[in-house]
Amino acid sequence: MQAAYIDKFGPSSEIKIGELPRPQIMNDEILIKTIATSVNYVDTFVRSSSFKTKVDFPLVIGRDAVGKVVETNDNEFKPGELVWTNSMGYDGRAGTTSEYVAVPCERLFHLDKSLDPIKVVASLHSSATAAILLNDVLNVQADQSLLVEGAGGHVGQKLVTLAKDLDLKVSTTSNSNDFSTLQALGVENTYDYHQDVSDITERFDYLIDTSGKIKLTDNVDLLNVFGKIGLITTPPDALTPEKIAQLYTHSQALMGFVISHATVDQLQDAAHLITTAFSQGKLLDDDVLTLPFNQAEKAHRLLENHENAGKKIILKF
Ligand SMILES: NC(=O)c1ccc[n+]([C@@H]2O[C@H](COP(=O)([O-])OP(=O)(O)OC[C@H]3O[C@@H](n4cnc5c(N)ncnc54)[C@H](OP(=O)(O)O)[C@@H]3O)[C@@H](O)[C@H]2O)c1
Repeated sequence: MQAAYIDKFGPSSEIKIGELPRPQIMNDEILIKTIATSVNYVDTFVRSSSFKTKVDFPLVIGRDAVGKVVETNDNEFKPGELVWTNSMGYDGRAGTTSEYVAVPCERLFHLDKSLDPIKVVASLHSSATAAILLNDVLNVQADQSLLVEGAGGHVGQKLVTLAKDLDLKVSTTSNSNDFSTLQALGVENTYDYHQDVSDITERFDYLIDTSGKIKLTDNVDLLNVFGKIGLITTPPDALTPEKIAQLYTHSQALMGFVISHATVDQLQDAAHLITTAFSQGKLLDDDVLTLPFNQAEKAHRLLENHENAGKKIILKF
């Protein structure tokens, strides 16, 4: 089968396109024929090994996929059925940028045939991240307040949509071009990200910066007592001892999260939540740039150089 893979960690130029053996399925696996994969920052981190994880070379790259079942030992999945996965390509599992992928049953989910597979695969990574972050990591409660910084982005918009479904009061920082989209999703206060966050007078029960550009020191000041920050990117500064004292004396918490460490239970709960949202037409609004799968190297380069114009890159078979 044709695949995009690496023989060693390194820059995007390490990505090769070529023939690899079609995988043989084990008892707990389903063989799918890939329709499309998405390219996310995390794929570049695994490829370069800036995120350390167990891999076997040659490593087929890619984490998410939509596809069709071709071979199965499990009654839950029927040949020809549309399915998706979002946790391949790390922790010893082969990735998804190949014509066929053997996916463990517990990591495979049904895809309603009325949905556009490209829109779905574009949404999976950011939607699952947002779902697990809100429900499990921050354990958000209805009627509390959330600030999403960088809310115009892929993760940001998913956080807003899911937080509104959970009855949170949501405020955002974004480019002013994104205000109308965010207001349509139910955001109460939209702040322009060109404004200093220190000028925001509201205080929040939860705060998530998706941009990685806001000082943690400034964000701590925006929290209510018992407030929590969900950390999914690296902020530009470090906390001083005074700020750490401020955190604990206000019973506040910093909660780190990376979806690569999500448990199967967390991935399955998130799958249930986002599948329900998909069926209501939600979470499917990512702008998409579609390339043929053999342009995987270009896709990684575009993303790493921020030349994707904010679009989610999809590799199509
Ligand atoms: N930990 C995890 O498990 C996990 C999972 C998924 C993603 N992530 C990380 O989350 C981050 C966001 O991913 P994404 O796909 O949502 O990226 P994205 O679509 O590029 O979103 C980033 C957003 O930040 C905005 N922004 C830029 N400068 C800003 C500023 N000074 N203040 C506020 N917002 C600003 C951007 O606006 P403009 O477009 O106007 O520049 C953009 O809308 C990435 O670093 C990614 O690696 C982590």
